[in-house]
Amino acid sequence: MTEEKRTEIKIAPSVLSADFSKMGECVVAVEKAGADLIHMDVMDGVFVPNITFGIKMVADIRKITSLPLDCHLMIVNPEKYVKKFANAGADYITVHYEACKENTLSVLRLIKECGVKAGLAINPDTPFELVENMLPHCDLFLVMSVFPGFGGQKFISDVLEKCLKIKDIIIKNNYNCVLEIDGGINEQTSKLAVGAGCDILVAGSAVFGAEDQKKAIEILKR
Ligand code: DX5
Ligand code: ZN
Repeated sequence: MTEEKRTEIKIAPSVLSADFSKMGECVVAVEKAGADLIHMDVMDGVFVPNITFGIKMVADIRKITSLPLDCHLMIVNPEKYVKKFANAGADYITVHYEACKENTLSVLRLIKECGVKAGLAINPDTPFELVENMLPHCDLFLVMSVFPGFGGQKFISDVLEKCLKIKDIIIKNNYNCVLEIDGGINEQTSKLAVGAGCDILVAGSAVFGAEDQKKAIEILKR
């Protein structure tokens, strides 16, 4: 990939690693520190073995930031909630292929009908070939570099090959789709992810665990 084709890398801090008792302050702080999007991990305790927050959190955060809200739905039957998250102010809604295998395209269409950018996520062990035909329908494609459910896990470098392949197809076909990676992103792995063509890096612990968030975001962007 030539340098001219490379758009600026964006950092999406995941509020999963924020102090939930100070969520508003945490979001304002990362916005000031240079975050490009706010990544919101919605977990239902069914699709993943953890529970976080839902629609009201998105609506409340919408009121205090002008950054795009990147909502990552780790829930079963996502189609039931798409409209609600859209109305709450989500800018991106990303659903998991593994949660809507039978109706992936109709869920992506529903997200777009709600006026929101549509994202599709795949787990580290899901082959990209299973969803390749969905790529023209995605505004965002999310490659999970950990198994979803928890922050602070180790980056699975096997997924880099998948990223390269996806980016290549996006460029060759001129698809209007950004490539995002989520899980285990830090100073070292961010370089690997960018090298593999990722446009948006989600980072939870690397940003919220840092003493100097501005510096942490700058390092990830380099
Ligand atoms: C995991 C979530 C991630 C998580 C990333 O299921 O989707 O967004 O917060 O956290 P780190 O960056 O700490 O791996
Ligand atoms: Zn996430």
